[in-house]
Amino acid sequence: MKISKDFLWGGATAANQYEGAYLEAGKGLSIADVERGGKHGTIRTIDDYVKEGVFYPSHEATDFYHYYKEDIALFAEMGFKCYRMSIAWSRIFPNGDDEVPNEEGLKFYDDVFDELLKYGIEPVVTLHHYEMPLNLVKKYGAWRNRRLIDFAVKYAKVVFERYKNKVKYWLTFNEINSILITPRPWHQAGIIYGENENENNVKLQAAHHQLVASALTVIEGRKINPNFKIGCMLLYPLTYAYTCKPYDQVLTRNKMLKTYYFGDVQIRGKYTNICKTFQESIDGEFTMEPGDEEILKNGTVDFISLSYYFSQVESDEPLMELVGNVAKGGRNPYLNITKWGWQIDPIGLRVALNNLYDRYQLPLFIVENGMGAIDKIEDDGKIHDEYRINYLKEHLSAMKDAIEIDGVDLMGYTMWGCTDLVSAGSGEIKKRYGFIYVDRDDEGNGTFKRLRKDSFYWYTELISSNGEILGSGAKITR
Ligand code: BG6
Repeated sequence: MKISKDFLWGGATAANQYEGAYLEAGKGLSIADVERGGKHGTIRTIDDYVKEGVFYPSHEATDFYHYYKEDIALFAEMGFKCYRMSIAWSRIFPNGDDEVPNEEGLKFYDDVFDELLKYGIEPVVTLHHYEMPLNLVKKYGAWRNRRLIDFAVKYAKVVFERYKNKVKYWLTFNEINSILITPRPWHQAGIIYGENENENNVKLQAAHHQLVASALTVIEGRKINPNFKIGCMLLYPLTYAYTCKPYDQVLTRNKMLKTYYFGDVQIRGKYTNICKTFQESIDGEFTMEPGDEEILKNGTVDFISLSYYFSQVESDEPLMELVGNVAKGGRNPYLNITKWGWQIDPIGLRVALNNLYDRYQLPLFIVENGMGAIDKIEDDGKIHDEYRINYLKEHLSAMKDAIEIDGVDLMGYTMWGCTDLVSAGSGEIKKRYGFIYVDRDDEGNGTFKRLRKDSFYWYTELISSNGEILGSGAKITR
């Protein structure tokens, strides 16, 4: 088996980390505009919005809004077959509950899609990538309120109608499972807990509303264009047992339940036994309305997309803590870490792909993977990011093994942050992922000039050889 000639090689970004122009052309404030990670603080109360005197790198980000033509030309130069991006809901419906959409917002994405199609680059579009109009938090309490389903489905229908002849691949919620993984689901669902609120119940209820919204989005999408391919998007926090103690195996399996909880509903169309086990394990309760089961059954996805950055370990013994942006687990002594403490585990990607494919037997799509690093312009004016090339070489070789040796059906690969952008976890630009360097820093200095890193040329060669330069796979011989 070989990587198919239709394999979708490309890059991935998200509107709130890349576009900038956070209040231009009628856009409303989104939850991502008022809080970032790191030094930009943590929202604790509903009124704790934009902080006076604090510079938010994401407000201008790396300005795709004004540089989209230049950036897309660079994607084309690398030979991208696809580009994963998201639509900012607050560009289309500035308040989320507006009667009519914002034409200027719709026009912007028309222009972006036209530019991509001009080069034969297929857009892969996420509807909800860690943002929602802030007004929906203030007025309705965000995703804990069932009314959010109606607003989200209305938004989906508007963009499906508008772009039905330009976009074929859609994703509903980015890393939908992270709502149960993170302690504070602000990015995921706009949730700030009230006093005396049962946090587990709030999360399960918000998760249910998102699952119903996702299923209805699939159902409506198919009516608008039966050729749409609509996928779910799971963060895949691959977990190994730290020891061979049987109890560690049980803990490890339990850790993955938060992921399969969403996979099962979005792919199998119902809350399965493991979902119920998980709900019971946290004493959680939520309300289902009549008709919800039918919606979940009819709104299953066409493919599974995933993000994979690292693996972690689990044990009932004390573990050294591993940091990540959402998933946090135990440190594995056999693996190296990046400057941000993320474990580097290429073989884990092969394991992850096999696990998901064995479980669901649906085509997979890696829509996020990559390495955040500090890049430096050297004296020769270039960026020699051989660490990124090595990271990608190892991960993509493991991916190739999963396809060519294990027979996993994989549609494509989009490297996260193909142009430098603002980190979701730390709120910084200095954590760079891109093939394309952007001259901009965390204090607001820089010209926004784009530069090709060494990895840019490597990825170009990789795509033109359709992965052949990765060499042969690592056959398992015992
Ligand atoms: C994923 C998110 O979890 O990880 C992205 O979908 C994010 O939005 C990416 O940027 C990398 O994380 P970070 O914290 O390094 O930006």
